[in-house]
Amino acid sequence: MRLSSLSLAGTAILSLALILGRADVPAQTVDPAEAFAPPAVTEYMGRTVAQTMHWSGSGWLIRHKREREEAASLMREKLELKPGMTVCDLGCGNGYHTFPMGKSVAPGGKVYGVEIQEPYLLMLKEGAEKAGVTNFVPVLGKLYDPNLPEATFDLMLLVDVYHEFSHPEQMLTAMRKALKPDGVVVLVEFRAEDDTVPIKPEHKMTKAQIDKEMTANGFKLVKAFDGLPWQHMLWYGKANP
Ligand SMILES: C[S@@+](CC[C@H](N)C(=O)[O-])C[C@H]1O[C@@H](n2cnc3c(N)ncnc32)[C@H](O)[C@@H]1O
Repeated sequence: MRLSSLSLAGTAILSLALILGRADVPAQTVDPAEAFAPPAVTEYMGRTVAQTMHWSGSGWLIRHKREREEAASLMREKLELKPGMTVCDLGCGNGYHTFPMGKSVAPGGKVYGVEIQEPYLLMLKEGAEKAGVTNFVPVLGKLYDPNLPEATFDLMLLVDVYHEFSHPEQMLTAMRKALKPDGVVVLVEFRAEDDTVPIKPEHKMTKAQIDKEMTANGFKLVKAFDGLPWQHMLWYGKANP
């Protein structure tokens, strides 16, 4: 079940309790911001939006084979991170890419890690300590808002995340605001054009579909790397900075 469905269910139970006059339900459990959350989409511009990968499957994100299957180090090398940069790993899971990114932007730089699933925040805190990364900023985002400061980021990385957005337009608007004028969003998505990539279809995207969605939301393709084994790697800047 989607997180938004869960919060909708919670709101419905609360409303029912209030109608039935249950005085023991504290009214302050209703977050007014959530009550006005925009509706989630299940289809976007001709594609099915994937279900959010639940945190209980987080072991898959740190599987031994991942480095070989995704050429993860090569992908991060291609980001060309430098000390002093402010970067974000959006939808960072348990920090597989976040902590190496933090090391690459030190000294002087910071890495923000955004997640919508609260259990990840504890894993991230412990992971940062274990990895000795002190320039990491954990952020609890919402499905429609990454809760990031404006005009701050040189680069935002989304690995295997964008296709899960239940609110793509709201997220892309917020991401544009969070980027510096010359900042870039780097999308890494499993290639839907390639049947040999062993990932469920709704968790893959074609380059054409990514580009259709990004250009419709104020971004332009500035660079691409086609050398990853399974994934597209696409850099987008603001179309009108
Ligand atoms: C397949 S996991 C990838 C995790 C990480 N990027 C990695 O490569 O190890 C996708 C993650 O995106 C997160 N996610 C989905 N929608 C999000 C949103 N609107 N804002 C932030 N994170 C989101 C999910 O909670 C999930 O942990």
